[in-house]
Amino acid sequence: MGISKDIKYIGVNDHRGELFEGQYVVPNGMAYNSYVILDEKIAVMDTVDINFTEEWLGKLELVLSGKKPDYLIVQHMEPDHSASVAVFMEKYPEAVVVASTKAFAMMKNFFGRDYAERRVVVADGSILSLGKHELTFFTAMMVHWPEVIVTYDTTDKVLFSADAFGKFGALDIEDDWVSEARRYYIGIVGRYGQQVQSLLQKVAGCDIQTICPLHGPVLSENLGYYIGLYQTWAAYEPEKSGVVIAYATIYGNTGKAAKLLAEKLREKGCEVVLHNLACCDMHKAVADAFCYDRLVLASSTYNADVFPFMKTFIQHLTERLFQNRKVGFIENGSWAPLSSRVMRKMLENSKNLTFMDTTVKIFSAIKGENITEIESLAEELMKVE
Ligand code: FEO
Repeated sequence: MGISKDIKYIGVNDHRGELFEGQYVVPNGMAYNSYVILDEKIAVMDTVDINFTEEWLGKLELVLSGKKPDYLIVQHMEPDHSASVAVFMEKYPEAVVVASTKAFAMMKNFFGRDYAERRVVVADGSILSLGKHELTFFTAMMVHWPEVIVTYDTTDKVLFSADAFGKFGALDIEDDWVSEARRYYIGIVGRYGQQVQSLLQKVAGCDIQTICPLHGPVLSENLGYYIGLYQTWAAYEPEKSGVVIAYATIYGNTGKAAKLLAEKLREKGCEVVLHNLACCDMHKAVADAFCYDRLVLASSTYNADVFPFMKTFIQHLTERLFQNRKVGFIENGSWAPLSSRVMRKMLENSKNLTFMDTTVKIFSAIKGENITEIESLAEELMKVE
């Protein structure tokens, strides 16, 4: 695949069906992208996961057609991109690694060596000329590790964006970019919105016509749309109007209340997304909570706490700095319902959350007064849209 006359794609698709980063389901697989810039000097942009080293080296050889690479540019040291660095450096002993100071420290940790004799250390604004192509590097701290750099090719107006603008899913399966990019962004980079905003500001002056991320497709059209979504996500602003109802239920009674609330809201014309946290993709539920402007948490009380799936869900939210949303609660308990108090406490350090006045308090099963409470909660949620 040619990105431009001189830039070639040599990434791989992973369909092994394993969890990505040990926790994210990837039903459509995963792509580990890598690129080659062919010029007077040849640069390879990042490597791939260790399970695909041979396939990647084969693709590289084809693109090189007998030539040797001069540089290996390591933008990110997470193993999905860096695991093949040591093998590459052994195979091409004349190649030089280009990376940030922090990346070289990580190489020492991962590979036991930091290529002190074969390296170029780059920082914000460093330039590397390949001949016709001039590469400018920008540090992208915490997008999504501290050593990350992104690279702008002034000649072809290409931004190599590292993890930014990536998504779950291999490139040989078509899927919906935004839902898998959102799930990827919120899950993996969500905590670092401020750093993503800094990166977007840094590259705002570049005339970007193509974005080459380390996961997901190369983006070359309608870039304002993708950059706009990143701005929204990085600012923790809701992307859509609607209510996410996330519930954790033991015998189904809390779930019934959650579904009844969904019904009442839908009758009022509200978009509702329901997640049973025990059996849904937890990271899809987390991404939805960040996507919509209102959230309802419904949980049984369990061991004087919340049901474990709800605890995990709220932890995922707070770790990713959940904020700027309106939140309601449904609690259940057969002798001492207190889950709403626990859930509220878990969210006490989250910024700019507005809690609904109505809390639905169920003793074991829904009764007449609960239906009234659910109707009031639905009314309130509609008022704060
Ligand atoms: Fe795709 Fe942060 O590694």
